[in-house]
Amino acid sequence: MTATSALIETRGVTKSYGGVVALEDVSMVVNPGEVTCVLGDNGAGKSTLIKILAGVHQHDSGELLIEGEPTRFASPRAALDRGIATVYQDLAVVPLMSVWRNFVLGSEPTYGVGPLRLLDRGRSREIARNALSDMGIEIRDLEQPVGTLSGGQRQCVAIARAVHYGAKVLILDEPTAALGVKQAGVVLRYVVQARDRGLGVVLITHNPHHAYPVGDRFLLLKRGATLGSYEKSGIDLSELTRQMAGGAELAALQHELERVQE
Ligand SMILES: Nc1ncnc2c1ncn2[C@@H]1O[C@H](COP(=O)(O)OP(=O)(O)OP(=O)(O)O)[C@@H](O)[C@H]1O
Ligand SMILES: [Mg+2]
Repeated sequence: MTATSALIETRGVTKSYGGVVALEDVSMVVNPGEVTCVLGDNGAGKSTLIKILAGVHQHDSGELLIEGEPTRFASPRAALDRGIATVYQDLAVVPLMSVWRNFVLGSEPTYGVGPLRLLDRGRSREIARNALSDMGIEIRDLEQPVGTLSGGQRQCVAIARAVHYGAKVLILDEPTAALGVKQAGVVLRYVVQARDRGLGVVLITHNPHHAYPVGDRFLLLKRGATLGSYEKSGIDLSELTRQMAGGAELAALQHELERVQE
């Protein structure tokens, strides 16, 4: 046993692409039953950070600890095998396949033996139907192609899928970015459900109004560096918003704009 109970911890992680330092000395923690929010502007390094957690890229220096154990994932499959499920913005779904077929993709129940094994369609539909209704997600027709679901519905199906297949960590890269207020609210409800089931959730967003109500800790990145790292008790929504907006820079801009109006 190790001293830490964190599902994931990074210590001083650094990553460059060629000459570009995308991430510098970033430390974060993901605990079970908590939501860790990663905030930052375009190019801040958010996706780079989660790609290291998800096994897409490897860090150059610093440490990645998975349940206390120093780790380098050789592939996304290796991360998934350790219970780290990632839902990307451009979801890895097959748009023309039905909802239930996408749900079991990669873990299909089969019948028969050896090379004659066949997809168990009845069982697949049942798995998808039960898992979705278990999370309270309403999809009227499981036969409908995933491509015809709304963006929010697709995110919800992906969250239910990760929960059903036993993920310990759920990473969501800007799940609410393209959504309206109401749909974003629905997705955030399922983020909370996943958290309440004991998963550690990593929520990436530009929007402090989406992060604050559901987050337990907040990591703010700017041009690859850590701008701030807070527990919820250490920061309120207005301060989080101010920091995201660039604080002093925004005040200067506002002053400038007021002068133009005079
Ligand atoms: N594969 C890559 N090759 C070269 N440079 C990259 C690569 N991926 C990201 N970068 C660079 O690394 C920096 C951080 O990018 P990253 O995608 O992590 O930012 P982000 O915070 O996710 O931004 P966004 O909000 O736009 O998604 C940027 O300067 C980007 O141009
Ligand atoms: Mg990104």
